[in-house]
Amino acid sequence: MSKTLKVTLAGVEFDNPIMTASGCCGYGEELSDIFPLTRLGGLVTKSITLNPRLGHPPPRTAETASGMLNAIGLANVGVDAFIRDKIPFLAGRKTRIIVNVAGGSVDEYVEVCRRLNDVDGFDMIELNISCPNVDRGGIQFGSDPKLTEKVVREVKKVFSRPLIVKLSPSVTDITVIAGAAEAGGADVLSMINSVVGTAVDIHTRRPRLTNNKGGLTGPAIKPIALAMVAAVYEQCRLPIIGIGGIACWQDVVEFMLCGASAVQVGTALFVDPETPVKITRGLKEYLRTQKLNSLNDLVGKLEKY
Ligand code: SIN
Repeated sequence: MSKTLKVTLAGVEFDNPIMTASGCCGYGEELSDIFPLTRLGGLVTKSITLNPRLGHPPPRTAETASGMLNAIGLANVGVDAFIRDKIPFLAGRKTRIIVNVAGGSVDEYVEVCRRLNDVDGFDMIELNISCPNVDRGGIQFGSDPKLTEKVVREVKKVFSRPLIVKLSPSVTDITVIAGAAEAGGADVLSMINSVVGTAVDIHTRRPRLTNNKGGLTGPAIKPIALAMVAAVYEQCRLPIIGIGGIACWQDVVEFMLCGASAVQVGTALFVDPETPVKITRGLKEYLRTQKLNSLNDLVGKLEKY
C-alpha cells in the first residue's frame, strides 16, 4: 500500500493535513508568490464579516517570548467584496479553501453564511466564535455554550457545506463548548484560537497594542493547545483541526497523537512562509521511517500514563 498524507474531514478530502490558519495569509494572493498553493492541504482566509472593517489602529501586533500578540480587530474587505474580488482567485487554486466567518450577532453570522452559500469556489466555512479582540461577537459566542449552540444551529440552516467551528481557549471548560458546537450541528472543530494576553512598554507605560490586550499565538501556547485537543478528543466525536504554535512536522505528530486529524499553521508563517511545505516533507519521511501507511494511524494514539 502506498503512503499517503491525505486526510478526510466531513467528507472532504485534503491532499495533506496542513492548512494555513486564518489571519496569517490574508486571502492567499501573497502566499501564492512564495509557493504553489497546491502544496497546502487547505487555506483558511482572514475572517469575513458582513461589512468591511478597518480593524484596530496600529500597533496591533507585538512580539513576545516564544510568541506573538495580535489585536487586528477583524480587519477585512466585507463579504460582498470578498465574493466579488477574492473568491475568483481562490476558486482557481487546486487546494481546499475554507472561508473563516466572524460576526457581531447571530444575524450577522447567518447573513454572511447565507451569502456565501450561493457562491462556488470554496469548500467549507470556519465559524470564528473565538476572536478575543472585538467588543461584540467573537469570544462572547465561544464562551457561552447556549450561544455557541444557537449560532451553529442557525448557520447550519442556511449553509449546506461542512461547517468548522473554531474554539477559544479562554473558557472554563473547552469540552463543554465543544459539546455545544456538536449539539448545534458542527461538522468539525478547530482549536485553539489565541490566548488572551498583553504586553507593556515600560518607557511609555502603555500597552504595546492600541486595543490594550490581544491574543497570544505561537510556540508559547502549544502545550495549552495540545492539552485541550486531547481533552476534547476524549469527550467529543467530531474531527479536530489542531492549532497552536505549530512550526515543524514534529509538532504536527504531537497534535495528531493528541487527537487532531489535521492542523493549521499560523504564527510560524511570519517567521518562514514555507513552513507548510517543509512540514509535509518531514511528515512523508516520518511515515517512511515509522513504516506507517497513513497519518490517520496516529490520530488519538497517545499512550497515557
Ligand atoms: C483579529 O482579527 O483581531 C484576530 C482574529 C481572531 O483571533 O480570531
